Amino acid sequence: MKFKSISKKILALACVVPMFAMANEGGPTLDKFDVNTHDLESLQRGAQTFANYCLSCHSAQAMRFNGLADIGIPDQQVKDNMLFAADKVTDPMKVALNPKEAKGFFGATPPDLSVIARARGADWLYTYLRSFYRDPSRPTGWNNVVFDKVGMPHVLWELQGEQHAVFKTEKNAEGQSVQVLEKLELVKAGTLTSLSGGKANTADYDQKVGDLVNFLVWMGEPHQNLREQLGYAVLLFLGILLLPFVYLLKRDYWKEIH
Ligand code: HEC
Repeated sequence: MKFKSISKKILALACVVPMFAMANEGGPTLDKFDVNTHDLESLQRGAQTFANYCLSCHSAQAMRFNGLADIGIPDQQVKDNMLFAADKVTDPMKVALNPKEAKGFFGATPPDLSVIARARGADWLYTYLRSFYRDPSRPTGWNNVVFDKVGMPHVLWELQGEQHAVFKTEKNAEGQSVQVLEKLELVKAGTLTSLSGGKANTADYDQKVGDLVNFLVWMGEPHQNLREQLGYAVLLFLGILLLPFVYLLKRDYWKEIH
């Protein structure tokens, strides 16, 4: 009797779990991004964009400015082009903005971005930074497809231009009409996008965001490249170490045959 009721509970749980999984899968689809943290030029461009457009509100405390030497940005270049909030290249990437003030401005504190790529994933970041759209009902005038009612303004809008949301009416499970987002439309070109004959070309902006996402992924795990190189070196070393033994073994085996 007891066993039966337990097995019933398990059965009931088993039915519920896949439902949650499905509920999670709903929501906007993410654009796929192929991360490449070996492309140093892309990482350098991403770092510069990060310093110019993100560091004014977000910190990246786990990253020191002189750590950028690992992706080929020398200290002098950091001094000349990136030190706004910090004074020394040995400083972490901190932020000038007071977190309490930020909360007052935007209704939310801009989080530290050191490991944001591990928390959100590259696809999410790539989609997020390309999915801001005009929304007059929001205090900043912007909303975002993957982060509804986001507190962050669209800081890259001069580059991307302006997108409008196109909604369509759909019936939900209860048969009520609901507005769902159909697509975003570029209505005003930015410095890195163009509109000709109603067709939008966003390749340059997408690349800019791609570089930034590469950098954010690299920043989440700055020693990954080194670790990979070390791994290959160790394998090579072990291989070379093994060779004489293999040779001796071979000689020993073939001794009687010759
Ligand atoms: C003007 C200030 C400001 C600037 C500049 C800014 N952000 Fe933000 N950002 C915010 C605020 C505020 C939030 C919190 C939004 C919320 O919780 O509603 C945020 C949230 C985010 C999030 C979501 C974090 C989460 O909750 O997972 C990401 C990712 C992000 N910002 C990336 C960037 C990047 C990349 C840049 C540079 C291109 C940037 N931000 C520039 C203010 C800013």
